Amino acid sequence: MQDSNHSSIDKQHNVSAVAIVGLGFIGLPLSMSYTRNHYKVIGLDVNEAHIQRLQQGITDSIENYEGHTLQYYLQDALQNNLFIPTTNYAQAAQEVGAYIVTVGIPIIQGAPYYDALESATKELAKVVKPGDLILYRSTHVPGTVQERLIPLLESISPYKIGIDVHVAYAPERVAEGRAMEEFQTIDVLIGGMNQESTEHAKEVLRRINRATFHETSSMEMAETVKVVENVQRDVNIAMVQEIAQLAQATGLRTSELIRLANTHPRVNLLTPGAGVGGYCIPNAYYYLQHKADAVDLNLPILSTARKTNDYVPNAILSRIDHKLGGIDFTQTRFAVLGLAMKNFSNDDRISPSVTLVEELLHRGAKVTAYDPLVPVEHHNFSVPTLEACLGDADVILITILQEHWHTMALSTLLKMAPSCRLVFDACEAIVQDGLSDTPLLRI
Ligand SMILES: NC(=O)c1ccc[n+]([C@@H]2O[C@H](COP(=O)([O-])OP(=O)(O)OC[C@H]3O[C@@H](n4cnc5c(N)ncnc54)[C@H](O)[C@@H]3O)[C@@H](O)[C@H]2O)c1
Repeated sequence: MQDSNHSSIDKQHNVSAVAIVGLGFIGLPLSMSYTRNHYKVIGLDVNEAHIQRLQQGITDSIENYEGHTLQYYLQDALQNNLFIPTTNYAQAAQEVGAYIVTVGIPIIQGAPYYDALESATKELAKVVKPGDLILYRSTHVPGTVQERLIPLLESISPYKIGIDVHVAYAPERVAEGRAMEEFQTIDVLIGGMNQESTEHAKEVLRRINRATFHETSSMEMAETVKVVENVQRDVNIAMVQEIAQLAQATGLRTSELIRLANTHPRVNLLTPGAGVGGYCIPNAYYYLQHKADAVDLNLPILSTARKTNDYVPNAILSRIDHKLGGIDFTQTRFAVLGLAMKNFSNDDRISPSVTLVEELLHRGAKVTAYDPLVPVEHHNFSVPTLEACLGDADVILITILQEHWHTMALSTLLKMAPSCRLVFDACEAIVQDGLSDTPLLRI
């Protein structure tokens, strides 16, 4: 387990404990990045059941690194007493000098909800002591640390925020599934309340990250850059969705068009799919628009991109309806393969696949869905096997790649769904082997 490359870093620093606040898709692998480098981590979360599972060495989070699962690293850290998951902030305060916060700002009906992040900040304000660092790593509405969190800390803590207690912001830029690798290799943007805060945050992050650190002129600059990074993907994906519509209407294969365009060294088109999901990209526009509202500004291109991506599940249903010559949804059985928000993931937050199923149910269709990585109890339309999902389907809709059907031949798929009239493959999962007349539609 010991990573010998890190021993020189360990020697340069006092090996000290950190607290990671919020043990979700980011906070847990981040914790493991510290523990596998021999730093003790106190993991804080408000979710009691989640903490109990972590104490037992159980996680559903999918991260593989150097041939091991996240659960392997979790169990190893627990055995070596390097990871203490708890709900108790006061317990953490006795052991750590730095808190890294990975609690997000959900968007609900277009508006940011700060409750969880502010609640974590209030708990921290009660326990921080002189010499401590609070380092926010969540994705923020620009200005959140300066305008909301620092005033909150100042209103509760008896200490001078910025002087006694350092505060900094360094957005997390990793992608789920590659987090353990990218915590070490992705450049860090870092802005502090003052230079002392910045230096303190750099020291704490250097323990796991060897890439370049870029100091920003303000915390708000780092907050804005992070959201802009996310929103550019939203816009790029919306653009390829539109290009895909043109390709479909003119009889061209979208994947070929994109592959060929990308042979140009300065072109990098992304891959269109069943929509854009997850916690990060769909929220980005709303974070920026919320800030833009404060200065009376519209962001029409970003807004249109968001609407375009939100509409993709409906556009897919229109194509199916049209291809089958107008269908009675109430008399049609749909099998949806894939519920996670992206390929090979188990994260079904803000997932276009789930939106698609909900839209089908709204139209009165009968739907079964299967995703081998998303726990079946998450959705009452989920079934536990591929066969149970496909059995009596009239239409099969494949939204994301999972190993179970990735590169499956069309005829193999259809053997499991003898009454199927159409397959819609939104992710180039299925290979057309020419052994069936059933239509295969693609994005
Ligand atoms: N998931 C990603 O791929 C990704 C990538 C980069 C950045 N981010 C950002 O990182 C942040 C976290 O994302 P995530 O995907 O890990 O979210 P998540 O929902 O998986 O995890 C957040 C955790 O915080 C906990 N929590 C809520 N309130 C708390 C409190 N008061 N004290 C302690 N814990 C509390 C929740 O129980 C949950 O376990 C978000 O801002 C997100 O935008 C996520």
